[in-house]
Amino acid sequence: MAKLSRSIRETLFWWRPINGDSDVGHYFELFKRLLGYIRPYLFPQLVFAVAAMLLNGSVNGMIPLLIKKIINTIATIPSSKTTGASVQAMHLLAAEILIVFIVRAATDFLSDYLTTYLGMEIAMDLRGEFNDRLQRLPLSFFNWRSTGGLIAHALSDVQAASSVVHDTLFSLIGDSVTLVALVVGLFWMDWRFAIIAFVVFPLAVLPVIGVARRVRKMYRNAQKRLADVTTLMQEAIQGCRVVKAFGMEEYECARFRDQLARQLRMLRRVLRIGSFTDPLIEVLGAIAVVTTLWYGTDLVLAGARSPGTFAGFIGAMLIVYKPFKRIAGTNNSIQQGLVSAERVFRVIDHPPEPYETPGAIELPNGPHRLEMRNVSFRYAPNGALVLRNINLSIGAGEVAALVGMSGGGKSTLADLVPRFYDPEQGMVLIDGVDIRKFTLKSLRSQIAVVSQSTFLFNDTIRANIAYGGPGKSLDEIIAAAKQANAHDFIMRLPNGYDTTVGELGVRLSGGERQRIAIARALLKNAPILILDEPTSNLDSEAERVVQDAIERLMENRTTLVIAHRLSTIRRADRIYVIVSGEILEQGTHEELIAMDGAYRRLCDLQFYAPELVEMPSRLAMS
Ligand SMILES: Nc1ncnc2c1ncn2[C@@H]1O[C@H](COP(=O)(O)OP(=O)(O)OP(=O)(O)O)[C@@H](O)[C@H]1O
Ligand SMILES: [Mg+2]
Repeated sequence: MAKLSRSIRETLFWWRPINGDSDVGHYFELFKRLLGYIRPYLFPQLVFAVAAMLLNGSVNGMIPLLIKKIINTIATIPSSKTTGASVQAMHLLAAEILIVFIVRAATDFLSDYLTTYLGMEIAMDLRGEFNDRLQRLPLSFFNWRSTGGLIAHALSDVQAASSVVHDTLFSLIGDSVTLVALVVGLFWMDWRFAIIAFVVFPLAVLPVIGVARRVRKMYRNAQKRLADVTTLMQEAIQGCRVVKAFGMEEYECARFRDQLARQLRMLRRVLRIGSFTDPLIEVLGAIAVVTTLWYGTDLVLAGARSPGTFAGFIGAMLIVYKPFKRIAGTNNSIQQGLVSAERVFRVIDHPPEPYETPGAIELPNGPHRLEMRNVSFRYAPNGALVLRNINLSIGAGEVAALVGMSGGGKSTLADLVPRFYDPEQGMVLIDGVDIRKFTLKSLRSQIAVVSQSTFLFNDTIRANIAYGGPGKSLDEIIAAAKQANAHDFIMRLPNGYDTTVGELGVRLSGGERQRIAIARALLKNAPILILDEPTSNLDSEAERVVQDAIERLMENRTTLVIAHRLSTIRRADRIYVIVSGEILEQGTHEELIAMDGAYRRLCDLQFYAPELVEMPSRLAMS
């Protein structure tokens, strides 16, 4: 009961905000903003489209007049004494009808084609803008979004948003012109009759507007479900190994179907409301036709109106009904499009990454000294501190190793150097200058990053390595691959450097992928290296080959390495032990072993026997 009274209230008082979801002004702004995307296509496309629509509408408005003429001319034939003149008039009329319908067909085609194409162009513009922004958003943005959801925004939401433009133009302008032309034509023919015929139509407007807010709300939920479905599908495909290994196919299928069913339920509710407007207009149309018939028959019988006028009115009733229905339906799709536009613009309006200070300077090329001073950091504004008061310093060309238990904050610390994140307190310095003073581009050009998990693009090996230096020649790419111990295995592949590696490099082994990633970093040849050493379990031969490549990569570079291999740690000039976001110990391997603290325990836990055997003897020597 309460629900019923609420829907009645919602329908009757559609202009009043309910539940904060009816910010009419907000949606009007969105609407204006979307229409702004037409600007580049004003001339000649839009001008021609509107001209075609105007012509089409006016021609439609002439149809009742034509019907009137036909009926009246036919009616005069039998009684006419001048049959020849009537036949001539009929021929002239036939020519008129032909012209009207040809013009109608041509303008129909032109306006539909031009506005649909305009909608497509705007969809592409929006999608391009969406991706432009996506490429420049900070990492933190992606931590809280799902890939599936973003893909749904870029595809389905952009589509729905751009259809607002098409629908508005085609339906609101085109159909309104037809509507106005018909009404004007009818009033011109017989204004009293016209008032009776059209008195019911304005009644349809209220409920049509009333459903707008409900459509928006339901469609918003339906789109959320679509994002869930996309996310689920993407995960099931990317995680197919895990799914198979754990025999979870049934579970995944059931989960997916469940999501589909939820989405369907939401869509059904949108559909129900959408489908409700059509029959409403149909009933109103029928009432109008019946009224005209009933009243008109009397008038014709009384001789007050000609049969032609009567037929013209009935014809007009039947024509007017289509654009009217379409305008009402368009309202629903515009509401849906506005919800989608809201989601697209939320991404487009998200502040991008640069956060460069005004007057940022270029970081010159060359060996650099890297430093962190009192750095603290947390991911979420009110979350726990992940890094606490970190101080470290790496001289030009030196190697610093970060070691520590999993989850201690090592990768987070490394992410601060290329400014994937900025510290909450303290600063990161290169050559004594806060890195926030450098342009982001020049800063990142001085840093090569090899991350914990290698990412390869679904492209050729050559393209994957060339990512580190887009302008580099094939010779340079091969040289980098040789240094990374990758050349030999690449040459054994069917197409050598032109072999495509599959999504995420699935067609390569783990060690091979790592060496491609190392070759990419070598090609970049940046003076600062951030290396999150891969922890994958390679066999000792593959391990040695990868290790060898890593050694070469670190040569002559200021390196911050998150080390898992004892050989890398030993080679470091300084080791920092990070536990729960703090530097607990620091020094060389020998110094730290001698301290017999956290580092010593970590070594005991992490490194296997042959290395450990060696340790006490070295310790004894020091
Ligand atoms: N993107 C993120 N958003 C929120 N919290 C995060 C994020 N990444 C990591 N964390 C949290 O920050 C802490 C430090 O994570 P980090 O990845 O830096 O650890 P780590 O030392 O590199 O561990 P590992 O040796 O396992 O790679 C962890 O508690 C983790 O849960
Ligand atoms: Mg890590």
